[in-house]
Amino acid sequence: MSFLPGKNILLGISGGIAAYKSAELVRLLRKQGANVRVCMTASARQFITPLTMQALSGNPVHTELLDPAAEAGMGHIELARWADYILIAPATANTLAKLTWGLADDLLGTVCLASKARLAVAPAMNQQMWKNPATQHNIRTLVERGVNVFGPAEGEQACGDTGPGRMLEPAELLRKLEECCATSTLLQGKRVLITAGPTREPLDPVRFLTNRSSGKMGYAVALAAAKMGAEVMLVSGHVALECPPGVNRVITESAADMLVATQEYARQADLFVATAAVADYTPVDVADRKIKKNSATFHLEMKRTTDILATIKQTHPQLFTVGFAAETHDLMTYARGKLERKGIDMIAANSVANGKAFDQPTNALEVVWLDGHRSFPEMDKQRLAEELMKLVVVQYNKRKQANDKH
Ligand code: CTP
Repeated sequence: MSFLPGKNILLGISGGIAAYKSAELVRLLRKQGANVRVCMTASARQFITPLTMQALSGNPVHTELLDPAAEAGMGHIELARWADYILIAPATANTLAKLTWGLADDLLGTVCLASKARLAVAPAMNQQMWKNPATQHNIRTLVERGVNVFGPAEGEQACGDTGPGRMLEPAELLRKLEECCATSTLLQGKRVLITAGPTREPLDPVRFLTNRSSGKMGYAVALAAAKMGAEVMLVSGHVALECPPGVNRVITESAADMLVATQEYARQADLFVATAAVADYTPVDVADRKIKKNSATFHLEMKRTTDILATIKQTHPQLFTVGFAAETHDLMTYARGKLERKGIDMIAANSVANGKAFDQPTNALEVVWLDGHRSFPEMDKQRLAEELMKLVVVQYNKRKQANDKH
């Protein structure tokens, strides 16, 4: 099912030879029922005329930042507010650099800065420019900020080179845009905070204690929430996963660091899902020099870490909180115990007996709340995350209705 009909899509075009493909993209977007407006940079206009884009989009094309005529109609702020999604295709290396630094020296840069709309870019450039560490750094920064990056594809380039840097074909861009458009509006206007992955508890400058969490379940929950229209903040330990599209992410080290970051974002959040495998203990002393192997045995004194989930629920009782529990036995008993002890709203328990769940693509969950429970059989973690989040929304709305009555 397409979620594009009736959506306001602002297509930004920057100056690359692939700009001619954007004409076809406008046609495809309109065919899907989207409202399309086009914003072109000065160099884009060297490749394709605004007249073509105007005819295809059915709307005047936006080009100037300071345009007295536009200010009365669709000035940059209005354009920024109008857009549900901004897609820049092609996005040149220069445009990506400007977005990274937040430059507002032309209309496209200004609109991107001024808009709350989800942003996607379709890079198109020479393969060496794409591989350049500067461009790669910019792309990573944009991804961390929740920008969706579509492509680039590999192949023969207009300049004669072969490699990565070709803009994706219009049909492929349309598919990607549909994919990352919200699949529902169940969490529209809500802020969801998620912790994921393992923590690292330092021993000395070169060593730390950690666990086997891959972060997959938490990242799947983050993507599921984003697809339901939520603004998602992911506080993650070090994992080998890319930031999901449409999600904002910060990377933290120890349990103490994760607590600080989580507290910072909890203030604005509506829902909190704690999937992180937080260390329960941390070394009492952290050596400031590398520990040497000068004795036959080594004893380590550890102290309890702060429970992030319980702390956040105590300090932000209005927040709807969901915990995770990994158990090897007596799943339901332990899950209910944790639900009550931590005073949280829901807990999702999974079995980790015989190496199950950790670093696996599938998982099964027993979800427990105060007056109910539901079992989800083993399935792909992404599907499971989506099913879980639907259940979370139902319980969240029930609690909200009950609170509104009192
Ligand atoms: N959690 C947390 N901060 C901690 C420890 C755990 O936020 N310091 C969160 C986890 O993200 C998860 C839930 O609490 O949502 C897990 O609860 P916990 O009681 O730590 O579970 P286990 O580690 O399985 O506990 P136990 O060792 O008692 O079985």
